[in-house]
Amino acid sequence: MTEPDRQSPDAPSATTPSGLASERGNAASTDEVGAMFDRISGVYDVMNAVISGFQEPRWRRRAVAMTEVGPGGAVIDVATGTGKVARSLKDRVGPSGRVLGVDLAPRMIDRARAAYGRRPGVEFLVGDAMHLPAEDATFDAATIAFGMRNLPDYERGFAEMRRVVRPGGRVVCLEIARPDHLIARISRVWFEQVVPFIGRLAGQGEAYAYLVESVRNYPPPERIAEIMAAAGLVDVRWAPMTLGMVTVHVGTRPPDD
Ligand SMILES: C[S@@+](CC[C@H](N)C(=O)[O-])C[C@H]1O[C@@H](n2cnc3c(N)ncnc32)[C@H](O)[C@@H]1O
Repeated sequence: MTEPDRQSPDAPSATTPSGLASERGNAASTDEVGAMFDRISGVYDVMNAVISGFQEPRWRRRAVAMTEVGPGGAVIDVATGTGKVARSLKDRVGPSGRVLGVDLAPRMIDRARAAYGRRPGVEFLVGDAMHLPAEDATFDAATIAFGMRNLPDYERGFAEMRRVVRPGGRVVCLEIARPDHLIARISRVWFEQVVPFIGRLAGQGEAYAYLVESVRNYPPPERIAEIMAAAGLVDVRWAPMTLGMVTVHVGTRPPDD
Protein backbone atom coordinates (compact mmCIF):
# COMPACT_ATOMS: atom_id res chain seq x y z
CA MET A 1 0.00 0.00 0.00
CA THR A 2 1.31 3.48 -0.81
CA GLU A 3 1.33 5.97 2.02
CA PRO A 4 -0.85 9.08 1.52
CA ASP A 5 1.02 12.14 0.32
CA ARG A 6 -0.17 14.95 2.57
CA GLN A 7 0.78 18.50 3.33
CA SER A 8 3.66 18.81 5.81
CA PRO A 9 2.25 19.05 9.35
CA ASP A 10 4.47 22.08 9.93
CA ALA A 11 3.03 24.00 7.02
CA PRO A 12 1.76 27.40 8.21
CA SER A 13 -1.64 26.85 6.59
CA ALA A 14 -2.34 23.77 8.76
CA THR A 15 -5.64 24.29 10.58
CA THR A 16 -6.98 22.60 13.68
CA PRO A 17 -10.38 20.93 13.27
CA SER A 18 -13.29 22.32 15.29
CA GLY A 19 -14.40 19.09 16.96
CA LEU A 20 -17.94 19.70 15.71
CA ALA A 21 -19.90 16.80 14.27
CA SER A 22 -21.96 16.35 11.12
CA GLU A 23 -24.91 13.96 10.95
CA ARG A 24 -22.57 11.07 10.19
CA GLY A 25 -19.44 11.79 12.18
CA ASN A 26 -16.68 14.28 12.83
CA ALA A 27 -17.19 17.39 10.69
CA ALA A 28 -13.48 17.79 9.90
CA SER A 29 -11.73 16.38 6.85
CA THR A 30 -9.39 13.44 7.34
CA ASP A 31 -6.53 15.66 6.10
CA GLU A 32 -7.15 18.19 8.89
CA VAL A 33 -7.46 15.47 11.53
CA GLY A 34 -4.36 13.59 10.35
CA ALA A 35 -2.26 16.78 10.24
CA MET A 36 -3.34 17.69 13.78
CA PHE A 37 -2.35 14.27 15.15
CA ASP A 38 0.96 14.54 13.33
CA ARG A 39 1.57 17.85 15.11
CA ILE A 40 0.81 16.46 18.58
CA SER A 41 2.55 13.10 18.13
CA GLY A 42 5.51 14.21 20.27
CA VAL A 43 3.42 15.05 23.35
CA TYR A 44 0.62 12.54 22.78
CA ASP A 45 1.63 9.72 25.15
CA VAL A 46 2.48 11.98 28.08
CA MET A 47 -0.67 14.06 27.66
CA ASN A 48 -2.78 10.90 27.47
CA ALA A 49 -1.38 9.58 30.72
CA VAL A 50 -2.04 12.89 32.51
CA ILE A 51 -5.50 13.49 31.04
CA SER A 52 -6.68 10.00 31.94
CA GLY A 53 -5.36 10.25 35.51
CA PHE A 54 -3.07 7.34 34.57
CA GLN A 55 -6.13 5.12 33.95
CA GLU A 56 -5.56 4.51 30.23
CA PRO A 57 -3.54 1.26 30.56
CA ARG A 58 -6.44 -0.25 32.49
CA TRP A 59 -8.98 0.91 29.87
CA ARG A 60 -6.88 -0.45 27.02
CA ARG A 61 -6.41 -3.84 28.78
CA ARG A 62 -10.18 -4.17 29.15
CA ALA A 63 -10.76 -3.38 25.48
CA VAL A 64 -8.09 -5.87 24.43
CA ALA A 65 -9.61 -8.59 26.66
CA MET A 66 -13.02 -7.95 25.07
CA THR A 67 -11.69 -9.07 21.67
CA GLU A 68 -11.56 -12.60 23.16
CA VAL A 69 -8.82 -13.51 20.69
CA GLY A 70 -6.47 -16.24 21.76
CA PRO A 71 -2.90 -17.32 20.99
CA GLY A 72 -2.21 -17.38 17.25
CA GLY A 73 -5.02 -14.92 16.50
CA ALA A 74 -4.91 -12.02 14.05
CA VAL A 75 -6.16 -8.55 15.02
CA ILE A 76 -6.28 -5.12 13.40
CA ASP A 77 -6.02 -2.02 15.57
CA VAL A 78 -7.58 0.95 13.77
CA ALA A 79 -6.40 4.51 14.57
CA THR A 80 -3.54 2.85 16.41
CA GLY A 81 -1.69 6.09 17.21
CA THR A 82 1.59 5.30 18.96
CA GLY A 83 0.67 1.59 18.98
CA LYS A 84 -0.13 0.88 22.62
CA VAL A 85 -3.26 -1.16 21.96
CA ALA A 86 -1.42 -3.02 19.19
CA ARG A 87 1.33 -3.86 21.67
CA SER A 88 -1.19 -5.29 24.18
CA LEU A 89 -2.91 -7.22 21.41
CA LYS A 90 0.42 -8.76 20.41
CA ASP A 91 1.00 -9.82 24.02
CA ARG A 92 -2.39 -11.51 23.89
CA VAL A 93 -2.01 -13.35 20.57
CA GLY A 94 1.54 -14.46 21.39
CA PRO A 95 4.49 -15.32 19.14
CA SER A 96 2.41 -17.01 16.44
CA GLY A 97 -0.22 -14.24 16.36
CA ARG A 98 -0.37 -11.24 14.05
CA VAL A 99 -1.30 -7.59 14.69
CA LEU A 100 -1.71 -4.80 12.15
CA GLY A 101 -1.93 -1.21 13.39
CA VAL A 102 -3.31 1.41 10.99
CA ASP A 103 -3.31 5.17 11.44
CA LEU A 104 -3.79 8.24 9.29
CA ALA A 105 -0.92 10.22 10.82
CA PRO A 106 2.55 9.20 9.52
CA ARG A 107 4.29 10.60 12.60
CA MET A 108 2.11 8.50 14.89
CA ILE A 109 3.00 5.45 12.79
CA ASP A 110 6.70 6.36 12.96
CA ARG A 111 6.45 6.34 16.76
CA ALA A 112 4.54 3.06 16.80
CA ARG A 113 7.12 1.45 14.51
CA ALA A 114 10.02 2.76 16.59
CA ALA A 115 8.48 1.43 19.80
CA TYR A 116 7.00 -1.93 18.75
CA GLY A 117 7.55 -2.42 15.01
CA ARG A 118 10.55 -4.72 15.38
CA ARG A 119 8.50 -7.45 17.05
CA PRO A 120 7.82 -10.29 14.59
CA GLY A 121 4.13 -10.44 13.75
CA VAL A 122 3.54 -6.71 14.31
CA GLU A 123 3.09 -4.33 11.40
CA PHE A 124 2.12 -0.66 11.25
CA LEU A 125 0.73 1.06 8.16
CA VAL A 126 -0.39 4.57 7.33
CA GLY A 127 -4.00 4.22 6.23
CA ASP A 128 -7.52 5.55 6.54
CA ALA A 129 -10.17 3.91 8.71
CA MET A 130 -12.68 4.78 5.98
CA HIS A 131 -10.85 2.44 3.56
CA LEU A 132 -8.90 -0.06 5.64
CA PRO A 133 -5.86 -1.48 3.83
CA ALA A 134 -6.93 -5.10 4.34
CA GLU A 135 -8.85 -7.84 2.56
CA ASP A 136 -12.30 -8.94 3.72
CA ALA A 137 -12.46 -11.38 6.65
CA THR A 138 -8.71 -11.26 7.36
CA PHE A 139 -8.76 -10.81 11.15
CA ASP A 140 -10.26 -12.51 14.19
CA ALA A 141 -11.07 -9.13 15.75
CA ALA A 142 -10.74 -5.37 15.23
CA THR A 143 -10.18 -2.66 17.83
CA ILE A 144 -10.34 1.12 17.87
CA ALA A 145 -9.37 3.12 20.96
CA PHE A 146 -10.11 6.84 21.20
CA GLY A 147 -10.27 6.91 17.41
CA MET A 148 -13.96 6.59 16.41
CA ARG A 149 -14.72 10.15 17.56
CA ASN A 150 -12.31 11.47 14.91
CA LEU A 151 -13.86 9.70 11.91
CA PRO A 152 -16.04 11.58 9.41
CA ASP A 153 -18.52 8.68 9.23
CA TYR A 154 -18.91 6.47 12.32
CA GLU A 155 -21.12 3.91 10.59
CA ARG A 156 -18.64 3.50 7.78
CA GLY A 157 -15.84 3.14 10.35
CA PHE A 158 -17.71 0.27 12.03
CA ALA A 159 -18.68 -1.23 8.64
CA GLU A 160 -15.01 -1.27 7.59
CA MET A 161 -14.03 -3.00 10.84
CA ARG A 162 -16.82 -5.52 10.31
CA ARG A 163 -15.68 -6.14 6.73
CA VAL A 164 -12.12 -7.03 7.70
CA VAL A 165 -13.01 -9.39 10.57
CA ARG A 166 -14.12 -12.94 9.86
CA PRO A 167 -17.75 -13.96 10.45
CA GLY A 168 -18.11 -14.45 14.21
CA GLY A 169 -15.21 -12.04 14.91
CA ARG A 170 -15.51 -9.13 17.32
CA VAL A 171 -15.32 -5.36 16.84
CA VAL A 172 -14.35 -3.41 19.97
CA CYS A 173 -14.54 0.36 20.37
CA LEU A 174 -13.13 2.23 23.39
CA GLU A 175 -14.04 5.91 23.59
CA ILE A 176 -14.31 8.81 26.01
CA ALA A 177 -17.88 9.38 27.22
CA ARG A 178 -19.87 12.15 28.93
CA PRO A 179 -21.82 10.62 31.80
CA ASP A 180 -24.42 12.78 33.51
CA HIS A 181 -24.34 11.85 37.19
CA LEU A 182 -23.02 14.22 39.86
CA ILE A 183 -19.49 12.83 40.28
CA ALA A 184 -19.12 12.69 36.53
CA ARG A 185 -20.03 16.37 36.30
CA ILE A 186 -17.17 17.13 38.67
CA SER A 187 -14.80 15.09 36.49
CA ARG A 188 -16.05 17.16 33.57
CA VAL A 189 -14.54 20.27 35.12
CA TRP A 190 -11.21 18.47 34.99
CA PHE A 191 -11.75 17.41 31.42
CA GLU A 192 -13.26 20.59 30.01
CA GLN A 193 -11.30 23.24 31.97
CA VAL A 194 -8.05 21.70 33.15
CA VAL A 195 -7.21 19.56 30.11
CA PRO A 196 -7.24 22.50 27.63
CA PHE A 197 -5.07 24.44 30.09
CA ILE A 198 -2.52 21.60 30.25
CA GLY A 199 -2.72 21.39 26.46
CA ARG A 200 -1.81 25.07 26.22
CA LEU A 201 1.16 24.49 28.54
CA ALA A 202 2.28 21.69 26.20
CA GLY A 203 2.08 24.18 23.30
CA GLN A 204 -0.95 22.39 21.79
CA GLY A 205 -3.90 24.39 23.11
CA GLU A 206 -5.99 24.13 19.96
CA ALA A 207 -5.59 20.37 19.67
CA TYR A 208 -6.71 19.83 23.25
CA ALA A 209 -9.63 22.23 22.78
CA TYR A 210 -10.51 19.96 19.83
CA LEU A 211 -10.38 16.95 22.14
CA VAL A 212 -12.93 18.49 24.51
CA GLU A 213 -15.21 19.65 21.70
CA SER A 214 -15.10 16.33 19.84
CA VAL A 215 -16.02 14.43 23.01
CA ARG A 216 -18.92 16.86 23.57
CA ASN A 217 -20.22 16.13 20.08
CA TYR A 218 -19.74 12.35 20.09
CA PRO A 219 -23.04 10.43 20.33
CA PRO A 220 -24.10 8.80 23.62
CA PRO A 221 -23.48 5.04 24.11
CA GLU A 222 -27.05 4.05 23.16
CA ARG A 223 -26.67 5.82 19.81
CA ILE A 224 -23.25 4.29 19.15
CA ALA A 225 -24.82 0.86 19.72
CA GLU A 226 -27.49 1.70 17.12
CA ILE A 227 -24.81 2.82 14.66
CA MET A 228 -22.91 -0.44 15.20
CA ALA A 229 -26.09 -2.40 14.51
CA ALA A 230 -26.72 -0.32 11.37
CA ALA A 231 -23.17 -1.23 10.27
CA GLY A 232 -24.19 -4.90 10.40
CA LEU A 233 -22.83 -5.91 13.81
CA VAL A 234 -24.88 -8.12 16.11
CA ASP A 235 -24.93 -8.83 19.84
CA VAL A 236 -23.88 -5.22 20.49
CA ARG A 237 -23.17 -4.37 24.14
CA TRP A 238 -21.31 -1.71 26.05
CA ALA A 239 -19.83 -1.20 29.47
CA PRO A 240 -18.91 2.03 31.25
CA MET A 241 -15.58 2.29 33.09
CA THR A 242 -14.25 4.70 35.73
CA LEU A 243 -17.64 6.21 36.62
CA GLY A 244 -18.61 6.30 32.97
CA MET A 245 -15.68 8.45 31.85
CA VAL A 246 -15.02 5.96 29.07
CA THR A 247 -17.21 3.37 27.39
CA VAL A 248 -16.23 0.17 25.66
CA HIS A 249 -18.59 -1.18 23.00
CA VAL A 250 -18.37 -4.65 21.51
CA GLY A 251 -20.24 -6.14 18.56
CA THR A 252 -19.87 -9.29 16.47
CA ARG A 253 -19.84 -9.88 12.72
CA PRO A 254 -22.75 -12.26 12.19
CA PRO A 255 -21.42 -15.85 12.03
CA ASP A 256 -23.40 -16.47 8.82
CA ASP A 257 -22.36 -13.17 7.16
C1 LIG B 1 -6.73 9.96 20.22
S1 LIG B 1 -5.67 9.09 19.14
C2 LIG B 1 -5.79 7.41 19.71
C3 LIG B 1 -4.56 6.62 19.42
C4 LIG B 1 -4.50 5.22 20.04
N1 LIG B 1 -5.55 4.37 19.53
C5 LIG B 1 -4.53 5.27 21.53
O1 LIG B 1 -5.29 4.50 22.13
O2 LIG B 1 -3.75 6.03 22.11
C6 LIG B 1 -6.63 9.07 17.68
C7 LIG B 1 -5.88 8.53 16.49
O3 LIG B 1 -6.80 8.38 15.41
C8 LIG B 1 -6.10 8.61 14.22
N2 LIG B 1 -7.09 8.85 13.16
C9 LIG B 1 -7.95 9.88 13.06
N3 LIG B 1 -8.70 9.76 11.96
C10 LIG B 1 -8.31 8.61 11.36
C11 LIG B 1 -8.71 7.93 10.18
N4 LIG B 1 -9.67 8.42 9.37
N5 LIG B 1 -8.12 6.77 9.87
C12 LIG B 1 -7.12 6.26 10.65
N6 LIG B 1 -6.69 6.87 11.78
C13 LIG B 1 -7.28 8.02 12.13
C14 LIG B 1 -5.24 9.81 14.56
O4 LIG B 1 -4.19 10.02 13.64
C15 LIG B 1 -4.78 9.45 15.97
O5 LIG B 1 -3.55 8.78 15.97
